[in-house]
Amino acid sequence: MVITSATNLVQELASFRERKTIGFVPTMGALHEGHLSLVRQAKAGSDVVVVSIFVNPTQFNNPEDLKNYPREPEADIKKLKLAGADIIFTPTEKEIYPEPDTRIFDFGAMDKVMEGFYRPGHFNGVAQVVKRLFRLVQPQLAFFGEKDFQQLAIIKALTAQEQLPLHIVACPTVREPDGLAMSSRNLLLSATQRAHAPLIYKTLQEAFGKVNSTTVPALKKWVQTTIDANPVLETEYAEIVDAHSLQPITEWNEADSIQLCIAVYAHPIRLIDNIKLK
Ligand code: PAJ
Repeated sequence: MVITSATNLVQELASFRERKTIGFVPTMGALHEGHLSLVRQAKAGSDVVVVSIFVNPTQFNNPEDLKNYPREPEADIKKLKLAGADIIFTPTEKEIYPEPDTRIFDFGAMDKVMEGFYRPGHFNGVAQVVKRLFRLVQPQLAFFGEKDFQQLAIIKALTAQEQLPLHIVACPTVREPDGLAMSSRNLLLSATQRAHAPLIYKTLQEAFGKVNSTTVPALKKWVQTTIDANPVLETEYAEIVDAHSLQPITEWNEADSIQLCIAVYAHPIRLIDNIKLK
């Protein structure tokens, strides 16, 4: 069932609330196997699966990026029905933001690094929309991909801060056969860029193999140099961070759990990926 009105969504879900587990997958559409894997995980763990498709303007710090973001609602709806989504919520901007949202969230140091640093205001916009979607859907379970590692951490922080009675389920990154992390933005790559883009994950994997034989700063530098040697790729950042606080580390023993996160331009397209190092 496809629903565009927030009021209708709330009414429809009211009948399930008491007896059923509601699982929720928020998306911005242009769906691929990564999104669909979240829907299948939601299906396995919940009675009713709600998927939203909403290209949220408040999280785009670049108007061109918002304008060019791929939109293919009909194909999305077909894929979602096949993957087992029960309710597909496709609101208009007015349904989500009857009035402009001016709320400023405080995620401390967590959103001052990586995506938060290079895309100022991005996570505030993500928090605004996710908070609103959570209020409408009121799921017991919400599914997010590890592909967007920092977003996942911010959503967990949001849920704790707001004391929301729901569990955030982290889902592994789904990749193309050549290793490129699936992303709606992959559709925007030229044939040449697409051919070179697998170097990103290949480099992350090689970096994992070097952990025991090099220092944190040297590995960071190696990743950046390796990517930048490619004619069509340019690193924006490569950070080695504490996987919980997301703060950069300088020594391997500084954190129990360590993630290498990267943003790479295939101009003007920006791709992100990450790998667990420890
Ligand atoms: P979007 O980029 O459409 O992603 C929706 C969800 O799919 C996110 O949780 C994202 O991490 C997950 N995802 C994307 N690619 C994936 C892959 N290759 N493997 C596994 N999961 C993947 O993230 C957003 O939308 C928005 O910021 C949103 C949370 C919907 C708020 O507007």
